[in-house]
Amino acid sequence: MAFAIEAEGLVKEFKGGIRAVDGLSLQVEAGTVFGLLGPNGAGKTTVVRILTTVFLPDRGRAWVLGHDVVAEAETVRANIGLAGQFAAVDDNLTGLENLRMIGQLTRLGRKKAIVRANDLLQLFELTDAAKRTAKTYSGGMRRRLDLAAALLHSPSVLFLDEPTTGLDPYSRQSLWGVIEELVNEGTTVLLTTQYLEEADRLAKVIAVVDRGKVIAEGTPTELKATLGATIIDLEMSSPDQADRVSTLLIEKTNKQARLVGASVKLPLEHGPAQVRELLEMLETAGLMPDHLNLREPSLDDVFLTLTGHMAEESSEGGR
Ligand SMILES: Nc1ncnc2c1ncn2[C@@H]1O[C@H](COP(=O)(O)OP(=O)(O)O)[C@@H](O)[C@H]1O
Ligand SMILES: [Mg+2]
Repeated sequence: MAFAIEAEGLVKEFKGGIRAVDGLSLQVEAGTVFGLLGPNGAGKTTVVRILTTVFLPDRGRAWVLGHDVVAEAETVRANIGLAGQFAAVDDNLTGLENLRMIGQLTRLGRKKAIVRANDLLQLFELTDAAKRTAKTYSGGMRRRLDLAAALLHSPSVLFLDEPTTGLDPYSRQSLWGVIEELVNEGTTVLLTTQYLEEADRLAKVIAVVDRGKVIAEGTPTELKATLGATIIDLEMSSPDQADRVSTLLIEKTNKQARLVGASVKLPLEHGPAQVRELLEMLETAGLMPDHLNLREPSLDDVFLTLTGHMAEESSEGGR
């Protein structure tokens, strides 16, 4: 099968020896959403910049719709749209003017650009705001306008770099709906995100990225299945107690529990049936939790298992 997007062994180093992308490969099936999931600094934006012809890779190759992103950059650019975390919207122009300006840049032709702009404004519920300057827009409206701009020339491959970062839950939901609609109409989407829930909801295949490398790949269901059927969270009264619980579990059950602050997370292969046995053991040891929670594994659990740290933790210190 020919893939809509394909990358092979991409490497990108910045001055100072920072290897932002470290041998990354991926394959995106046409008409699907591919999720690049990782914390801040994982290299997501750098990958997107290589695939959208903004950066040259130091090593490796990549193709969009079969066109080499280096040798055929022009053709690639004509077929892609890019929207992201920092909307490329001109604040002093109205919504419609912003789209018209993009229309000129993409050489769509004046008439076509206006028709298409009005269609997109309607699709993204911006018709009422079309004649207001973008500086009066909310965060969600700016992202939608940015996305409309990326779609003006009807690209069949769309790159969305953290499209909902910083948005409120309502705007996020509405943007998810729009993305799903585009995919239903056949658009291929490469989406980067720090939100496990977002990748879970939208992506057919997820690649988990850490330090410029893909550390796991699969469908959301496959990734979750690596963890057992049920997760139990034990909230202890202190990190010290949690540490003792984790030590006890390793001793008695030979199972690796994960510690996050004062809580212990443990996959239960045999589901809730194991809970009673577990609680009896904890009670005997004088380590009863303050609270417990039984749930399906989340992609956060996947990240924690794969990297040994929470996605949120590594986003602070950087590298
Ligand atoms: N233009 C640049 N110059 C130098 N370092 C950069 C540049 N862009 C990104 N980096 C570094 O490369 C790493 C990956 O960054 P980035 O691709 O932006 O990650 P993400 O999008 O996942 O947050 C980070 O350590 C970042 O500081
Ligand atoms: Mg980024």
